[in-house]
Amino acid sequence: MFSEEKLNKVKEIIARYPAGKQKSALIPLLHLAQEEFGGWLSAETMDYVASLLQIKPIEVYEVATFYSMFNLKPVGKYVFEVCQTGPCMLLGSDNIIDYIKKKLDIGVGETTKDGLFTLKTAECLGACGYAPMMQLGKHFREHLTPEKVDAIIEECRVKAN
Ligand code: FES
Repeated sequence: MFSEEKLNKVKEIIARYPAGKQKSALIPLLHLAQEEFGGWLSAETMDYVASLLQIKPIEVYEVATFYSMFNLKPVGKYVFEVCQTGPCMLLGSDNIIDYIKKKLDIGVGETTKDGLFTLKTAECLGACGYAPMMQLGKHFREHLTPEKVDAIIEECRVKAN
């Protein structure tokens, strides 16, 4: 359940849309729920969002399973979403993904044992001119190299302490 404060935010988001079109608030509410409930969306969370919007749970599952920005299982504190579409691939995203896998000893879709890092791949994130790149939280990390990846991992470890 959302806190009172978050429920007010839910009301505010729903009010942005015309009466009877509350389903339009689904994506913002899923973001809110993901932030609030540990970085991922469980079936219970999605059912809860459906109840808030008075829509069927399947309507929430359809959206949540379509977009890679929603996590359907627990993730680490830091999620590396490395773009693997054409321009990023041409500039070495495969090597970056392999480097992260080896460095963190995880595969794509997996989380490190310490719960700090999850590696995901993503389709074009609209920053092709800065390839290869990844999304980390709300920010893009661009022109990735193994050295930059090392620095980002270190930065996250420092922040986590
Ligand atoms: Fe990677 Fe567009 S191809 S951001």
